Amino acid sequence: MQEVQMDTTRGYVLYEENDHKVIWLGWDADVSSGAIQTNQYLIVNSGKGILLDPGGVHLFSRVVSVVSRFISLDDVESIFFSHQDPDVSSGIALWLGVTKAQVYIHDIWRRFVPHFGLVDQSRITPLEDEGGSINLGSVSLKLIPAHFLHSAGNFSLYDPRSKILFSGDIGTAVFPEGREYPEVEDFENHTRLMEPFHARAMGSNQAAARWISMCRKLDVSILAPQHGAMMRGELVRKFYDWFGNLNCGIDHLKSLTGA
Ligand SMILES: [Fe+2]
Ligand SMILES: [Fe+2]
Repeated sequence: MQEVQMDTTRGYVLYEENDHKVIWLGWDADVSSGAIQTNQYLIVNSGKGILLDPGGVHLFSRVVSVVSRFISLDDVESIFFSHQDPDVSSGIALWLGVTKAQVYIHDIWRRFVPHFGLVDQSRITPLEDEGGSINLGSVSLKLIPAHFLHSAGNFSLYDPRSKILFSGDIGTAVFPEGREYPEVEDFENHTRLMEPFHARAMGSNQAAARWISMCRKLDVSILAPQHGAMMRGELVRKFYDWFGNLNCGIDHLKSLTGA
């Protein structure tokens, strides 16, 4: 397994062409310090930005400083939350305080996120089950329904310019302490880090199959999850095959209870 060999606290650019840029925002220096490791992403188009799953309160100051290297906070016009979990969205009140951004999250979580801090409901755009899109400059970012994988109201987001699929918790890997790496090289080895979470947390094989079927129709260059490591090129197809063959959620229940 590869070791971290770069300064992962600064993140790096995943895609850049003309007025369009996608950035992985890096990790805390003490990435193994108890809280599960998370990935945050920023897409910039024509000088305007969208933050994807910017994360919890304890990450806020580092993520703000990395984002500020690429874009003025005043130009962050949208924040996308794939779902309601604290590792995704508990920094919402802080982010709304330093940006003018509109928040996008599934409608069922609209009245839950204010529990992370006082939130002006007019700044939340609720998303319907079907998904739709979020516009950023000249790009229409596509929302891929991912309900029950694991959240009951959950989306992945596809950027057709960079061809990056931001998959949320789908594709999560849980690293052994001190063994983190931002991109997968050895897929077979990596499945061992993905399997326990997917078997337990993903709702069912049927939910997985529907998501995989939608994603196979997209031209994906990088699968970028909220935890673990990104997968490029052929590894994206390998991931679909692996996930599609894994017993998960209620289809995994028998092995949990023995009954
Ligand atoms: Fe989650
Ligand atoms: Fe998560």
